[in-house]
Amino acid sequence: MECILVTGGCGFIGVNFIRHVLEETGFDGVLVNLDKLTYAANPLSLADLEGDPRYRFVRADLCDRDAVDRVFADHPVDAVVHFAAESHVDRSIRGPGAFIHTNIVGTFHLLEAARAAGSRLKRFHHVSTDEVFGSLGETGFFTEDTPYHPNSPYSASKAASDHLVRAYAHTYGLPVTLTNCSNNYGPYQFPEKLIPLMILNALEGRPLPVYGDGQNVRDWLYVRDHATAVWRVLTQGQDGRTYNVGGINELPNLEVVHRIADLVDELAGARPEGPRRGLVTFVPDRPGHDRRYAIDCRRIQEELGWRPEESFDTGLRRTVAWYLDRRDWVEQVRSGEYQTWIETHYGAPAEGVRA
Ligand code: NAD
Ligand code: TYD
Repeated sequence: MECILVTGGCGFIGVNFIRHVLEETGFDGVLVNLDKLTYAANPLSLADLEGDPRYRFVRADLCDRDAVDRVFADHPVDAVVHFAAESHVDRSIRGPGAFIHTNIVGTFHLLEAARAAGSRLKRFHHVSTDEVFGSLGETGFFTEDTPYHPNSPYSASKAASDHLVRAYAHTYGLPVTLTNCSNNYGPYQFPEKLIPLMILNALEGRPLPVYGDGQNVRDWLYVRDHATAVWRVLTQGQDGRTYNVGGINELPNLEVVHRIADLVDELAGARPEGPRRGLVTFVPDRPGHDRRYAIDCRRIQEELGWRPEESFDTGLRRTVAWYLDRRDWVEQVRSGEYQTWIETHYGAPAEGVRA
Protein backbone atom coordinates (compact mmCIF):
# COMPACT_ATOMS: atom_id res chain seq x y z
CA MET A 1 0.00 0.00 0.00
CA GLU A 2 1.46 3.30 -1.09
CA CYS A 3 -1.45 5.69 -0.68
CA ILE A 4 -3.98 5.10 2.08
CA LEU A 5 -7.12 7.23 2.19
CA VAL A 6 -8.42 7.53 5.75
CA THR A 7 -11.89 9.07 6.14
CA GLY A 8 -12.87 10.77 9.40
CA GLY A 9 -9.24 11.05 10.42
CA CYS A 10 -9.86 14.09 12.65
CA GLY A 11 -12.35 12.19 14.81
CA PHE A 12 -11.54 10.19 17.92
CA ILE A 13 -10.56 6.82 16.45
CA GLY A 14 -9.23 8.29 13.20
CA VAL A 15 -6.72 10.47 15.07
CA ASN A 16 -5.47 7.51 17.09
CA PHE A 17 -5.29 5.32 13.97
CA ILE A 18 -3.33 7.91 11.96
CA ARG A 19 -0.91 8.39 14.85
CA HIS A 20 -0.43 4.63 15.08
CA VAL A 21 0.25 4.28 11.35
CA LEU A 22 2.65 7.21 11.07
CA GLU A 23 4.40 6.83 14.43
CA GLU A 24 4.47 3.08 15.06
CA THR A 25 4.20 0.95 11.91
CA GLY A 26 7.07 2.17 9.73
CA PHE A 27 4.63 3.04 6.92
CA ASP A 28 6.51 5.03 4.29
CA GLY A 29 3.79 5.79 1.75
CA VAL A 30 1.31 8.66 1.75
CA LEU A 31 -1.70 8.89 4.06
CA VAL A 32 -4.53 11.17 2.93
CA ASN A 33 -6.99 12.22 5.62
CA LEU A 34 -10.43 13.17 4.23
CA ASP A 35 -12.61 14.85 6.84
CA LYS A 36 -15.55 17.24 6.77
CA LEU A 37 -14.62 18.63 10.21
CA THR A 38 -17.99 18.30 11.94
CA TYR A 39 -18.45 19.24 15.60
CA ALA A 40 -16.77 15.89 16.50
CA ALA A 41 -13.51 16.73 14.77
CA ASN A 42 -10.63 18.65 16.21
CA PRO A 43 -7.84 19.41 13.74
CA LEU A 44 -5.62 20.39 16.70
CA SER A 45 -5.36 16.66 17.43
CA LEU A 46 -3.09 16.18 14.40
CA ALA A 47 -1.54 19.65 14.13
CA ASP A 48 1.96 18.34 14.87
CA LEU A 49 1.80 16.04 11.81
CA GLU A 50 1.36 18.90 9.34
CA GLY A 51 5.06 18.93 8.51
CA ASP A 52 5.24 15.15 7.89
CA PRO A 53 5.73 14.62 4.12
CA ARG A 54 3.73 11.36 4.36
CA TYR A 55 0.61 13.19 5.61
CA ARG A 56 -2.01 15.15 3.60
CA PHE A 57 -5.29 16.62 4.81
CA VAL A 58 -8.29 17.25 2.55
CA ARG A 59 -11.39 18.90 3.90
CA ALA A 60 -14.31 17.25 2.10
CA ASP A 61 -17.82 16.01 2.78
CA LEU A 62 -18.55 12.39 1.85
CA CYS A 63 -22.06 13.48 0.95
CA ASP A 64 -20.56 15.54 -1.91
CA ARG A 65 -19.96 12.96 -4.63
CA ASP A 66 -17.80 15.25 -6.78
CA ALA A 67 -15.55 16.09 -3.85
CA VAL A 68 -15.01 12.40 -3.13
CA ASP A 69 -14.21 11.70 -6.79
CA ARG A 70 -11.74 14.59 -6.80
CA VAL A 71 -9.79 13.06 -3.92
CA PHE A 72 -9.41 9.84 -5.92
CA ALA A 73 -8.40 11.85 -9.01
CA ASP A 74 -5.81 13.88 -7.09
CA HIS A 75 -4.22 10.99 -5.19
CA PRO A 76 -3.23 7.46 -6.30
CA VAL A 77 -5.35 5.87 -3.57
CA ASP A 78 -4.78 2.11 -3.33
CA ALA A 79 -6.35 1.48 0.10
CA VAL A 80 -9.25 3.03 1.99
CA VAL A 81 -9.90 2.96 5.73
CA HIS A 82 -13.39 4.30 6.33
CA PHE A 83 -13.99 5.76 9.80
CA ALA A 84 -16.06 8.85 8.94
CA ALA A 85 -19.54 8.70 10.43
CA GLU A 86 -21.99 10.39 12.67
CA SER A 87 -21.30 8.30 15.75
CA HIS A 88 -23.31 9.37 18.80
CA VAL A 89 -26.43 7.32 19.59
CA ASP A 90 -28.14 10.10 21.58
CA ARG A 91 -27.73 12.54 18.69
CA SER A 92 -29.21 9.94 16.30
CA ILE A 93 -32.30 9.72 18.50
CA ARG A 94 -32.79 13.48 18.43
CA GLY A 95 -31.95 13.95 14.73
CA PRO A 96 -31.43 10.89 12.52
CA GLY A 97 -31.08 12.79 9.22
CA ALA A 98 -27.35 13.41 9.34
CA PHE A 99 -26.80 9.72 10.17
CA ILE A 100 -28.67 8.62 7.06
CA HIS A 101 -26.77 11.06 4.86
CA THR A 102 -23.23 10.52 6.11
CA ASN A 103 -23.32 6.90 7.20
CA ILE A 104 -25.33 5.50 4.29
CA VAL A 105 -25.12 7.95 1.36
CA GLY A 106 -21.55 8.99 2.25
CA THR A 107 -20.45 5.34 2.35
CA PHE A 108 -22.16 4.76 -1.01
CA HIS A 109 -20.19 7.65 -2.57
CA LEU A 110 -16.94 6.30 -1.20
CA LEU A 111 -17.73 2.80 -2.50
CA GLU A 112 -18.51 4.19 -5.95
CA ALA A 113 -15.23 6.11 -6.06
CA ALA A 114 -13.35 3.01 -4.89
CA ARG A 115 -15.05 0.88 -7.53
CA ALA A 116 -14.15 3.40 -10.24
CA ALA A 117 -10.49 3.14 -9.16
CA GLY A 118 -10.53 -0.44 -10.53
CA SER A 119 -7.59 -2.76 -9.96
CA ARG A 120 -5.53 0.04 -8.41
CA LEU A 121 -7.66 -0.39 -5.26
CA LYS A 122 -6.16 -3.16 -3.15
CA ARG A 123 -8.29 -2.87 -0.04
CA PHE A 124 -11.42 -1.10 1.22
CA HIS A 125 -11.63 -1.42 4.99
CA HIS A 126 -14.91 -0.47 6.64
CA VAL A 127 -15.01 0.33 10.36
CA SER A 128 -18.26 -0.62 12.04
CA THR A 129 -19.74 -1.30 15.44
CA ASP A 130 -21.05 -4.16 17.56
CA GLU A 131 -24.26 -2.13 17.92
CA VAL A 132 -25.47 -3.51 14.55
CA PHE A 133 -26.12 -6.83 16.33
CA GLY A 134 -28.65 -5.34 18.77
CA SER A 135 -28.88 -6.05 22.47
CA LEU A 136 -27.86 -9.15 24.46
CA GLY A 137 -29.43 -10.52 27.64
CA GLU A 138 -27.40 -11.59 30.66
CA THR A 139 -25.37 -14.14 28.68
CA GLY A 140 -23.92 -14.74 25.22
CA PHE A 141 -21.59 -12.91 22.86
CA PHE A 142 -21.80 -11.41 19.37
CA THR A 143 -19.90 -13.45 16.79
CA GLU A 144 -19.28 -12.48 13.17
CA ASP A 145 -22.29 -14.66 12.26
CA THR A 146 -24.79 -13.07 14.67
CA PRO A 147 -27.78 -11.77 12.66
CA TYR A 148 -28.08 -7.98 12.44
CA HIS A 149 -30.71 -6.44 14.71
CA PRO A 150 -29.93 -2.71 15.03
CA ASN A 151 -32.09 -0.76 17.48
CA SER A 152 -31.12 2.92 17.16
CA PRO A 153 -31.02 5.18 14.09
CA TYR A 154 -27.22 5.20 14.55
CA SER A 155 -26.85 1.42 14.55
CA ALA A 156 -29.40 1.04 11.73
CA SER A 157 -27.42 3.47 9.57
CA LYS A 158 -24.17 1.61 10.34
CA ALA A 159 -25.87 -1.72 9.53
CA ALA A 160 -27.01 -0.30 6.19
CA SER A 161 -23.46 0.81 5.40
CA ASP A 162 -22.10 -2.64 6.33
CA HIS A 163 -24.60 -4.26 3.95
CA LEU A 164 -23.59 -1.91 1.14
CA VAL A 165 -19.90 -2.71 1.67
CA ARG A 166 -20.62 -6.43 1.60
CA ALA A 167 -22.76 -6.04 -1.52
CA TYR A 168 -19.94 -4.22 -3.35
CA ALA A 169 -17.64 -7.14 -2.56
CA HIS A 170 -20.17 -9.72 -3.72
CA THR A 171 -21.41 -7.87 -6.79
CA TYR A 172 -18.34 -5.99 -8.04
CA GLY A 173 -15.51 -7.93 -6.44
CA LEU A 174 -14.33 -4.93 -4.38
CA PRO A 175 -11.58 -6.21 -2.01
CA VAL A 176 -13.30 -5.31 1.26
CA THR A 177 -12.71 -6.14 4.91
CA LEU A 178 -14.91 -5.12 7.84
CA THR A 179 -14.42 -4.78 11.57
CA ASN A 180 -17.23 -4.56 14.13
CA CYS A 181 -15.86 -3.33 17.41
CA SER A 182 -17.05 -2.57 20.91
CA ASN A 183 -17.05 0.79 22.75
CA ASN A 184 -13.74 2.61 22.41
CA TYR A 185 -12.20 4.89 25.00
CA GLY A 186 -8.92 6.78 25.26
CA PRO A 187 -7.31 10.11 24.31
CA TYR A 188 -8.98 12.53 21.86
CA GLN A 189 -12.58 11.35 22.41
CA PHE A 190 -15.18 14.08 22.17
CA PRO A 191 -16.66 14.68 25.64
CA GLU A 192 -20.24 13.79 24.75
CA LYS A 193 -19.47 10.06 25.16
CA LEU A 194 -19.63 8.37 28.54
CA ILE A 195 -15.99 8.17 29.62
CA PRO A 196 -14.65 11.64 28.73
CA LEU A 197 -17.91 13.27 29.84
CA MET A 198 -17.61 11.65 33.25
CA ILE A 199 -13.91 12.48 33.61
CA LEU A 200 -14.49 16.18 32.92
CA ASN A 201 -17.65 16.45 35.01
CA ALA A 202 -15.91 14.69 37.91
CA LEU A 203 -12.93 17.00 37.61
CA GLU A 204 -15.16 20.06 37.71
CA GLY A 205 -17.42 18.79 40.49
CA ARG A 206 -20.49 18.54 38.26
CA PRO A 207 -23.16 15.81 38.40
CA LEU A 208 -22.30 12.47 36.74
CA PRO A 209 -25.49 11.71 34.75
CA VAL A 210 -26.07 7.93 34.68
CA TYR A 211 -28.94 6.74 32.45
CA GLY A 212 -31.60 4.45 33.96
CA ASP A 213 -30.32 2.07 36.64
CA GLY A 214 -26.69 2.22 35.45
CA GLN A 215 -26.66 -1.54 34.87
CA ASN A 216 -26.34 -1.46 31.06
CA VAL A 217 -23.20 -3.33 30.13
CA ARG A 218 -20.61 -2.32 27.54
CA ASP A 219 -17.32 -3.96 26.51
CA TRP A 220 -14.54 -1.33 26.61
CA LEU A 221 -11.73 -1.34 24.05
CA TYR A 222 -8.73 0.97 24.44
CA VAL A 223 -8.52 3.02 21.24
CA ARG A 224 -4.85 2.23 20.53
CA ASP A 225 -5.76 -1.48 20.64
CA HIS A 226 -8.48 -0.76 18.11
CA ALA A 227 -5.95 1.02 15.90
CA THR A 228 -3.61 -2.00 15.96
CA ALA A 229 -6.54 -4.27 15.08
CA VAL A 230 -7.55 -2.16 12.08
CA TRP A 231 -3.94 -2.05 10.85
CA ARG A 232 -3.66 -5.83 11.27
CA VAL A 233 -6.84 -6.43 9.24
CA LEU A 234 -5.84 -3.85 6.63
CA THR A 235 -2.47 -5.46 6.04
CA GLN A 236 -3.18 -9.15 6.74
CA GLY A 237 -6.96 -9.65 6.64
CA GLN A 238 -8.66 -11.86 4.10
CA ASP A 239 -10.72 -10.24 1.32
CA GLY A 240 -14.43 -10.29 2.05
CA ARG A 241 -13.97 -11.19 5.72
CA THR A 242 -15.44 -9.58 8.84
CA TYR A 243 -13.55 -9.47 12.15
CA ASN A 244 -15.06 -8.64 15.54
CA VAL A 245 -12.82 -6.54 17.79
CA GLY A 246 -13.38 -6.37 21.54
CA GLY A 247 -11.56 -5.24 24.64
CA ILE A 248 -12.54 -8.28 26.77
CA ASN A 249 -13.60 -5.75 29.44
CA GLU A 250 -17.32 -6.02 30.14
CA LEU A 251 -18.61 -3.65 32.80
CA PRO A 252 -21.91 -2.05 33.90
CA ASN A 253 -21.96 1.72 33.37
CA LEU A 254 -22.25 2.52 37.08
CA GLU A 255 -19.07 0.57 37.79
CA VAL A 256 -17.26 2.50 35.04
CA VAL A 257 -18.42 5.81 36.47
CA HIS A 258 -17.35 4.83 40.00
CA ARG A 259 -13.88 3.88 38.78
CA ILE A 260 -13.54 7.19 36.95
CA ALA A 261 -14.63 9.13 40.05
CA ASP A 262 -12.04 7.26 42.16
CA LEU A 263 -9.26 7.85 39.63
CA VAL A 264 -10.02 11.56 39.41
CA ASP A 265 -9.93 11.73 43.23
CA GLU A 266 -6.53 10.06 43.15
CA LEU A 267 -4.95 11.94 40.24
CA ALA A 268 -6.48 15.41 40.65
CA GLY A 269 -6.76 15.42 44.44
CA ALA A 270 -9.72 14.93 46.76
CA ARG A 271 -12.56 17.48 46.90
CA PRO A 272 -13.39 19.00 50.29
CA GLU A 273 -17.05 18.07 49.69
CA GLY A 274 -16.15 14.34 49.67
CA PRO A 275 -15.47 11.52 47.20
CA ARG A 276 -16.57 12.22 43.63
CA ARG A 277 -18.69 9.03 43.59
CA GLY A 278 -21.16 11.22 45.43
CA LEU A 279 -21.67 13.21 42.20
CA VAL A 280 -23.48 10.28 40.51
CA THR A 281 -26.97 11.40 39.46
CA PHE A 282 -29.46 8.96 37.94
CA VAL A 283 -31.24 10.58 34.98
CA PRO A 284 -34.05 9.31 32.70
CA ASP A 285 -33.01 6.41 30.48
CA ARG A 286 -32.11 6.71 26.80
CA PRO A 287 -35.13 5.61 24.67
CA GLY A 288 -34.60 2.05 23.40
CA HIS A 289 -31.35 1.77 25.40
CA ASP A 290 -29.56 -1.50 24.49
CA ARG A 291 -28.95 -3.50 27.67
CA ARG A 292 -25.75 -5.36 26.98
CA TYR A 293 -23.08 -5.65 24.29
CA ALA A 294 -20.37 -8.31 24.42
CA ILE A 295 -17.98 -9.39 21.70
CA ASP A 296 -16.50 -12.76 20.84
CA CYS A 297 -13.26 -11.72 19.13
CA ARG A 298 -11.62 -15.13 18.77
CA ARG A 299 -11.46 -14.89 14.96
CA ILE A 300 -9.06 -11.93 14.85
CA GLN A 301 -7.03 -13.48 17.66
CA GLU A 302 -6.74 -16.92 16.10
CA GLU A 303 -6.43 -15.93 12.42
CA LEU A 304 -4.40 -12.71 12.68
CA GLY A 305 -2.72 -13.03 16.08
CA TRP A 306 -4.13 -9.74 17.40
CA ARG A 307 -4.77 -9.18 21.12
CA PRO A 308 -5.72 -6.09 23.12
CA GLU A 309 -2.72 -4.98 25.18
CA GLU A 310 -4.45 -2.66 27.61
CA SER A 311 -6.52 -3.86 30.58
CA PHE A 312 -9.38 -1.60 31.62
CA ASP A 313 -7.44 -0.53 34.72
CA THR A 314 -4.34 0.53 32.78
CA GLY A 315 -6.27 2.01 29.86
CA LEU A 316 -8.60 4.02 32.08
CA ARG A 317 -5.70 5.38 34.15
CA ARG A 318 -3.93 6.51 30.97
CA THR A 319 -7.14 8.09 29.71
CA VAL A 320 -7.91 10.02 32.89
CA ALA A 321 -4.30 11.23 33.04
CA TRP A 322 -4.51 12.38 29.40
CA TYR A 323 -7.67 14.44 29.99
CA LEU A 324 -6.16 16.03 33.08
CA ASP A 325 -3.03 16.90 31.13
CA ARG A 326 -4.62 18.12 27.87
CA ARG A 327 -6.90 20.91 29.07
CA ASP A 328 -5.92 22.86 25.92
CA TRP A 329 -7.52 20.15 23.75
CA VAL A 330 -10.60 20.02 25.94
CA GLU A 331 -11.12 23.77 25.77
CA GLN A 332 -10.80 23.67 21.98
CA VAL A 333 -13.64 21.19 21.51
CA ARG A 334 -15.92 22.97 23.94
CA SER A 335 -17.16 25.21 21.16
CA GLY A 336 -20.57 26.75 20.62
CA GLU A 337 -21.94 23.64 18.94
CA TYR A 338 -20.88 21.49 21.85
CA GLN A 339 -22.51 23.86 24.31
CA THR A 340 -25.76 23.80 22.34
CA TRP A 341 -25.80 20.03 22.28
CA ILE A 342 -25.17 19.68 25.97
CA GLU A 343 -27.90 22.19 26.73
CA THR A 344 -30.56 20.63 24.48
CA HIS A 345 -29.73 17.09 25.51
CA TYR A 346 -29.10 17.44 29.22
CA GLY A 347 -31.10 20.57 29.96
CA ALA A 348 -30.07 24.08 30.90
CA PRO A 349 -26.54 24.80 32.12
CA ALA A 350 -28.00 25.38 35.56
CA GLU A 351 -28.58 21.60 35.83
CA GLY A 352 -24.88 21.28 36.16
CA VAL A 353 -23.69 19.34 33.15
CA ARG A 354 -22.62 22.25 30.98
CA ALA A 355 -19.04 21.81 29.84
P1 NAD B 1 -16.18 10.61 15.78
O1 NAD B 1 -17.60 11.07 15.83
O2 NAD B 1 -15.26 10.96 16.88
O3 NAD B 1 -15.50 11.14 14.44
C1 NAD B 1 -16.13 11.07 13.20
C2 NAD B 1 -15.28 11.85 12.18
O4 NAD B 1 -15.93 11.74 10.91
C3 NAD B 1 -15.15 13.34 12.50
O5 NAD B 1 -13.81 13.76 12.33
C4 NAD B 1 -16.08 14.00 11.49
O6 NAD B 1 -15.67 15.32 11.13
C5 NAD B 1 -15.99 13.04 10.32
N1 NAD B 1 -17.19 13.12 9.47
C6 NAD B 1 -18.48 13.08 9.89
N2 NAD B 1 -19.30 13.24 8.84
C7 NAD B 1 -18.51 13.36 7.74
C8 NAD B 1 -18.78 13.53 6.35
N3 NAD B 1 -20.04 13.64 5.89
N4 NAD B 1 -17.75 13.60 5.50
C9 NAD B 1 -16.46 13.52 5.96
N5 NAD B 1 -16.15 13.37 7.25
C10 NAD B 1 -17.17 13.29 8.14
O7 NAD B 1 -16.27 9.04 15.57
P2 NAD B 1 -15.31 7.90 16.14
O8 NAD B 1 -15.70 7.60 17.53
O9 NAD B 1 -13.91 8.23 15.82
O10 NAD B 1 -15.79 6.66 15.26
C11 NAD B 1 -15.13 6.34 14.03
C12 NAD B 1 -15.83 5.14 13.40
O11 NAD B 1 -15.79 4.04 14.30
C13 NAD B 1 -17.30 5.38 13.09
O12 NAD B 1 -17.59 4.78 11.84
C14 NAD B 1 -18.04 4.68 14.21
O13 NAD B 1 -19.30 4.21 13.77
C15 NAD B 1 -17.09 3.52 14.50
N6 NAD B 1 -17.16 3.01 15.89
C16 NAD B 1 -16.94 3.86 16.94
C17 NAD B 1 -16.96 3.35 18.25
C18 NAD B 1 -16.69 4.24 19.43
O14 NAD B 1 -16.77 3.75 20.57
N7 NAD B 1 -16.33 5.49 19.27
C19 NAD B 1 -17.25 2.00 18.47
C20 NAD B 1 -17.50 1.18 17.36
C21 NAD B 1 -17.43 1.69 16.07
P1 TYD C 1 -21.95 6.11 24.85
O1 TYD C 1 -20.57 6.55 25.25
O2 TYD C 1 -22.90 7.12 24.31
O3 TYD C 1 -21.76 4.88 23.84
P2 TYD C 1 -22.88 3.86 23.21
O4 TYD C 1 -24.23 4.38 23.43
O5 TYD C 1 -22.49 3.86 21.77
O6 TYD C 1 -22.65 2.54 23.89
O7 TYD C 1 -22.63 5.45 26.11
C1 TYD C 1 -22.06 4.33 26.77
C2 TYD C 1 -23.06 3.87 27.81
O8 TYD C 1 -23.16 4.88 28.82
C3 TYD C 1 -24.47 3.66 27.27
O9 TYD C 1 -25.04 2.52 27.93
C4 TYD C 1 -25.20 4.92 27.65
C5 TYD C 1 -24.51 5.33 28.95
N1 TYD C 1 -24.46 6.79 29.21
C6 TYD C 1 -24.88 7.30 30.46
O10 TYD C 1 -25.32 6.55 31.35
N2 TYD C 1 -24.81 8.66 30.67
C7 TYD C 1 -24.34 9.53 29.71
O11 TYD C 1 -24.32 10.77 29.95
C8 TYD C 1 -23.89 8.99 28.45
C9 TYD C 1 -23.36 9.89 27.37
C10 TYD C 1 -23.96 7.62 28.25
